[in-house]
Amino acid sequence: MLRFARFLLAPLLLIAIALLLSLTSRPAERPAVLAALGDRPLVIAHRGGRGLWPENSLFAFERASALGADMLEMDLHLSSDGELVVIHDATLERTTNGQGPVAALSLEQLQALDAGYRWSADGGESYPYRGQGIRIPTFAEVLQHFPDTPKVVEIKVADAGLEERLCEALTRSGQRDRVIVGSFHERSLKLFRQSCPGVATSAGPASVRLLVALDWLGLGSLLSPSYQALQIPERHNGLAIASASLLRTASGRGLNVQLWTINEQPAMRRVLDLGANALITDYPDRALQLLGRSTQIGALSNYPALTP
Ligand code: G3P
Ligand code: CA
Repeated sequence: MLRFARFLLAPLLLIAIALLLSLTSRPAERPAVLAALGDRPLVIAHRGGRGLWPENSLFAFERASALGADMLEMDLHLSSDGELVVIHDATLERTTNGQGPVAALSLEQLQALDAGYRWSADGGESYPYRGQGIRIPTFAEVLQHFPDTPKVVEIKVADAGLEERLCEALTRSGQRDRVIVGSFHERSLKLFRQSCPGVATSAGPASVRLLVALDWLGLGSLLSPSYQALQIPERHNGLAIASASLLRTASGRGLNVQLWTINEQPAMRRVLDLGANALITDYPDRALQLLGRSTQIGALSNYPALTP
């Protein structure tokens, strides 16, 4: 009898925990940054629309906004003198005429570089943005020039104090309700959420794994997310992540599901049909056209670009 009771103890405990969780679990609340954008599918310009112009530049952000993108996505690093700078890689070679780690140069040195130097639309035949004054912006400049534009901001460096500086910059500019902050560094997200409560964030890698596992077990309704957006690729390491079931579960937990990096229109259509709420794309023009919100890039040719 005693052995039988012991045999039942573990499963009964699990059922009790699951029941308790299902009674107390709460979906995420829609953050102000998304509420302001309504219910239509969102177009998020990945790095400002890196397929169309030099990534993570004021030039790109200005044009993507003018094109009609709903949100601007950007990446943050720190200069050697502790300024928040908007650049994707930890090193300078891929996008600028500089060399070495971003973190080794001061803001003045970083801003002396040409951030349009490597951009080419024809595989290196031509470099139309070289010498045009495009440079690495500070995050403060982006906040100053685009105060009302919703932003997806990615913390690229952990353990360097970036999280607190980001919170300070958002608070100082009055833009805490204009951003979704994400990171591949789970500890950065934890730190950011502690230092900046109430600011919308996206799921870090561990949270994505937990959500995938719960969905797979049919236990998605137990989740009380500490984040408001789910930013995921369609596939990761050959495995399909963005299943219809996962997107349904995420949506049921109040999450805004944003798929990256979706550049071709058939893929855009596919993920929207699966239930994605937003397309993070290098080509916001293609997404806008697909959604019937077309804006002609040609009309932008004389658009006044922000000067350095
Ligand atoms: O939003 C997530 C996406 O930006 C991650 O990709 O490498 O372009 O930062 P990456
Ligand atoms: Ca990014």
